[in-house]
Parts: sequence; C-alpha cells; structure tokens
Amino acid sequence: MQKNRILVVGIFVVDLSFYSSKLPISGETVIGRNYNIGPGGKGSNQCVAISRSGGEVSFIARIGNDDFGKMGIELYNKERISLEGLIISENDKTGSATIAIDDNGMNSIIVVPGASSGLTENMIDQKLNLFKNSSICLTGFEVPLEVTKHVLRIAKSNQLKTILNPAPYFDIDNETYKLVDYLTPNEHEASSLTGIKIKNHNDARVAGRKICELGVGTSIITLGEKGVLCTRGIDDYEGLYIPAFKLNNKVIDTVGAGDIFNGAFATAISNNICVEDALNFANKAASISVTKPGAALSSPYKDEINKY
Ligand code: ATP
Ligand code: RIB
Repeated sequence: MQKNRILVVGIFVVDLSFYSSKLPISGETVIGRNYNIGPGGKGSNQCVAISRSGGEVSFIARIGNDDFGKMGIELYNKERISLEGLIISENDKTGSATIAIDDNGMNSIIVVPGASSGLTENMIDQKLNLFKNSSICLTGFEVPLEVTKHVLRIAKSNQLKTILNPAPYFDIDNETYKLVDYLTPNEHEASSLTGIKIKNHNDARVAGRKICELGVGTSIITLGEKGVLCTRGIDDYEGLYIPAFKLNNKVIDTVGAGDIFNGAFATAISNNICVEDALNFANKAASISVTKPGAALSSPYKDEINKY
C-alpha cells in the first residue's frame, strides 16, 4: 500500500470563464473583455493542485464520452493523475460551468455537473481498491449528497483521514460530520452551517468551535483575502489564524482558490506535516493561484510554493 496516496471523489466540468469590468446583475447584459475555456470542477481542480504540489492522487469522477470529457482525460495524462477511478458514460454529457469574473477577481458561477450527477454509491463500491490504496480521502458537495456520505463512511471504515469541503453548501445530517477529520468551509459555508455571520477571523473562531461541536475533528475556515482560521477541537478557543499570503501581483482570478487550498493541504497532510505547516503551505499555494487566470491551471507547482 502506498501510504501517502490521496483519493479525491468529485466532479470534472469544463469552465467557460468570462472576464468583464463588472458582474452582470439580474436582467443585465454587460460587454466582456475576454473569455477562456478550461478545466474546472472542484474535485478535478483539487487533483491538479495535489499533483502539482507534490502529492500522489487518484480521482473518482464520472464524465461523458464527448469533447469536454476528452479535455479531462488529456489533463489527467499531462498532470500525472491516475485514470483508474474515471467512469465514462456513453449517455450523459460532461458538465460545464459558466463563470463571470470582474476586475477585482470576484466571481459568480453556475455549475451543471452533467454526467457527475449520475455517480452512484454502487459505482463507488466498484472502486474500493482505490480507498484501500490511499491514506487520505478528499470530497465535497458537487456530487450527489448520498454519494458524499457513502464515500466518507467507506473512507473511515478503511482508516483513511477525511477532508470534506462542504461546497456548494447543503444541509446534511450531523452524523455525517462525525466522519470528518478536517472540514474546510469558506466563510459563507461556515455561516450557513453555524448560523454565525462571519465578517472576520474572530467570528470564525466562534464558528470553528461550533463546527467542532458537531463532531468534526478540525475546522478550517477559509476567509478569502483575509486568510484562514483553524480550530483544532472544541477546547481550542484561540484557534490558529494565518493571514492570506500577499503577493505583489494583482489578484486577477479567485476561481478555484478554495480548491487549490484543499489540494495543497491534502498533499501536506499526506506527507505527515503538522497542521500549522500544512495550513501555511496551502495558504501560500491558494494565494499564488489568485494571481493567475483559470481554476485548475492556476495551481502552482511545489517549487513555486516553497520559494516563498
Ligand atoms: P472558490 O470557491 O473560488 O474556490 P473559496 O471561496 O472556497 O474559493 P476562499 O476562502 O475565497 O475560498 O479562498 C481560499 C484561500 O485562497 C484563502 O484562504 C487564501 O489562502 C486564498 N485567497 C483567496 N482570495 C485571496 C486574495 N484576494 N488574496 C490572497 N489570497 C487569497
Ligand atoms: O471552485 C471553483 C470551481 O467550482 C470551478 O472550476 C467550477 O467548475 C465549479 O465547480
């Protein structure tokens, strides 16, 4: 068994990203400046971040037998991501996301998971060997929720450490949170989960303890340009606050910052690095990514992260 392998269960979609000076409001049309077509989907972005930051990764995802799906396969061949977990549907098409990005790098996204919506618990069971060959499992809420819960149950019963990125946010039962070693919501997801309005890292301290009270091992709330607040259990009143890593480069695209954070964090944990160092590594990786366009392809390589 390769002790430090990471298993991601999530989605691949093709991102259609449109850059304009402002995001359109409901009913409005704005003239854009540029557009990009590139790989996206939180799980897939996390895989690229893991591989580039030095981790070994397998990916369970369902895509279509179409041009968008081929983009995924080409990406995984290039990025050293195992194809063993991929399920290719002959009937369903690969998903896509439409993303609007303004001049400050802020975005709004509609994601259509496509073939990923057809991922089932039975399909996960067919990939049990990937759980047995891994020591960490990272998943989220873009696949059907029943699948997310099933993945966490299998991961735990096979002694894997679990990371759950609850994005986009959905209510789930408290029993599921007891299966989570590291929960990584952004500030909005943490607010939805706890009912606490999070405006700064002090609010995140309170929310972090509330998240741990649900049975989660460690709460890691990402705060965008404000950084990250980690709470290591219900007795951790202080928490560990790490400000965002500021680069001189302008922030141009924050799409996927959370995914890069999660991927780099998983890599660091898989190397048995302590939580504080893992958070610093992930924080640096994510902060570098916002200075580059794209989701998966904005992920930095290990050498670039370690340079700072
Ligand atoms: P997304 O949904 O776009 O993937 P997210 O909302 O899940 O992102 P954020 O909390 O916005 O995640 O950001 C994750 C991490 O990325 C932050 O904790 C920080 O390390 C880095 N980051 C995000 N925005 C900025 C920024 N403007 N400047 C520097 N670092 C940033
Ligand atoms: O987190 C960013 C990702 O969310 C995008 O790549 C988009 O595809 C959506 O899944």
